[in-house]
Amino acid sequence: MIITICIGSGCHVRGSRKIISILQDLIDKYYLEAKIELEACFCQERCTEGVVIKIDDVMVTGVSKENITEIFHQKILEVFTP
Ligand code: FES
Repeated sequence: MIITICIGSGCHVRGSRKIISILQDLIDKYYLEAKIELEACFCQERCTEGVVIKIDDVMVTGVSKENITEIFHQKILEVFTP
């Protein structure tokens, strides 16, 4: 799985750097480093809906440091737990 986080200026201002670090911690916590790759991308032209991330090819908007853990559990961790 590839998770892409927008680091364009709009999403940067909304905290994409913090989201990357929370995701990195969650990936470490669940030992998923061999299964999940984090990538950064430039503006996805949805700045007003940032932070924008993509989980494989599925775009998720409105990501924040408050909801990223829940998104991780619902959309990411679920894929790897039987
Ligand atoms: S800066 Fe992230 S969508 Fe534009």
